[in-house]
Amino acid sequence: MATLLCIGAGHVGGPTMAVIAQKCPEHRVVVADINAEKITAWQSDRLPIYEPGLQEMVFSCRDKNLFFSSEVERHIAEADIIFVSVNTPMKTFGQGAGKAADLQYWEKTARQILQHSHAPKIVVEKSTLPVRTAEAMERILHSQDRSPQFDVVSNPEFLSEGTAIRDMENPDRVLIGARDTPSGRKAKQAIVDLYAHWVPRERILTTSLWSSELSKLVANAFLAQRISSINSISALCEKTEADIQEIALAIGMDTRIGPRFLNASVGFGGSCFKKDILNLVYLCEYYHLSEVAEYWEQVVRMNEYQQARFLSRILSSLFNTVAGKRIALFGAAFKANTSDTRESPALQVCRALLEERADVVVTDPHALDNVRVDLGEDARRVTMEPDPYRAAMNAHAIALLTEWTLFSELDYEAIYHSMAKPAFFFDGRNILDHRKLFQIGFNVHAIGKPSLIHP
Ligand code: NAD
Ligand code: UGA
Repeated sequence: MATLLCIGAGHVGGPTMAVIAQKCPEHRVVVADINAEKITAWQSDRLPIYEPGLQEMVFSCRDKNLFFSSEVERHIAEADIIFVSVNTPMKTFGQGAGKAADLQYWEKTARQILQHSHAPKIVVEKSTLPVRTAEAMERILHSQDRSPQFDVVSNPEFLSEGTAIRDMENPDRVLIGARDTPSGRKAKQAIVDLYAHWVPRERILTTSLWSSELSKLVANAFLAQRISSINSISALCEKTEADIQEIALAIGMDTRIGPRFLNASVGFGGSCFKKDILNLVYLCEYYHLSEVAEYWEQVVRMNEYQQARFLSRILSSLFNTVAGKRIALFGAAFKANTSDTRESPALQVCRALLEERADVVVTDPHALDNVRVDLGEDARRVTMEPDPYRAAMNAHAIALLTEWTLFSELDYEAIYHSMAKPAFFFDGRNILDHRKLFQIGFNVHAIGKPSLIHP
């Protein structure tokens, strides 16, 4: 039996460790965080994040071999393997602000591990980090003469929010990078053995530390690039009456391209795509690869353009003014099946509409608490309404911004009749039947499609 500790009980630490605990019942798994409130929530019936299947997973092993604690230091001393899953947000100050990763939480953790360790340990990078961070980690961990043996392993996480449990249980691959030294190989094998409890061996990929660290940034950059590529073409579709969904189908059937991640949208959101691409851009600039940096930066620029375009379409359709008009935003989470609103395009649209002095009402089945926090002062100027029917009442327009299934099951006939006329519908996710909405009476604007407008 080994004792596993995960430092950071967030969107990655909580779900990944719950799955590891369930799949490896002989190990003791502790998830620790400096945020005591979050730990209390993990110990309660109301978990701090919404994720399908998470509650069942946590409840099945909590207090058996899965424990949540705010005593980080005590658990460091006891652990054999420490996963570091703290946040690595974009730096907002000083050199590299707006691009580089802010590594202060990660570095504090490394120093804490050093201070409270008295026996050899494997330290696993689970957070997304710039390539060669493991080198810095090793230097800190071995900075004292009498420090115990530490082996740093990179094991980036590829789960998506909303499908975290499914992704962990059935991953496309698990990536493990380590030093090619006797103790590095041993550490790597220990992590391979952990995952081999439920992941087929051929899907566990082992590489060098640097390939593993960089693969994580590159995977996110490639995924985001596909969205920006299809979104760029959606702009051309809107000018030429081509249909972006027909194009996505046509190109996605080419097995070299593949069908996934080709849904044109109001833009990608979430805590990671933007920060990870900009981190990649920063690394390229650091290594004087300016052409490479510019190439990847364009993925983020295109995403900003897509969000700005969506807002312009609302404004121009509503006769160039939304001041005082009630606009209902259907969805606030950055994608369906999560309560997370970090970098959500819905909040970008919300803020821009507030600038235009619209009367904004937001409805979302799980994310309204986070909207209140994320909007800060602006939250007071927004109506939060859990019921979409009430949100749409007397509204001039609905903008659908998160692809929750519930939004495709509403009675739009009833909604239309409760709205101000002419009524407008902006589908930022292309999940509805636009022709049907048009027949009901809506003026419909969807991404990458010709607008359906009543004369
Ligand atoms: P998060 O903000 O949800 O959670 C991070 C947690 O770390 C917080 O609860 C914070 O209190 C805690 N923390 C910070 N410093 C600490 C310290 N010194 N000791 C103990 N706890 C500390 O972040 P997240 O979404 O879980 O992301 C974590 C990392 O995983 C990031 O590097 C992110 O890029 C990466 N990642 C995230 C996802 C995702 O879907 N969210 C997926 C793959 C990778
Ligand atoms: C993404 C990656 O998919 C994960 O592999 C990675 O581990 C994670 O980032 C991370 O490093 O944090 P996540 O951000 O949770 O996961 O969600 P995605 O499903 O990738 O969606 C990201 C954004 O792109 C969402 O706003 C989503 O609505 C949007 N999207 C996605 C589109 O607009 N179109 C698509 O076709 C797919």
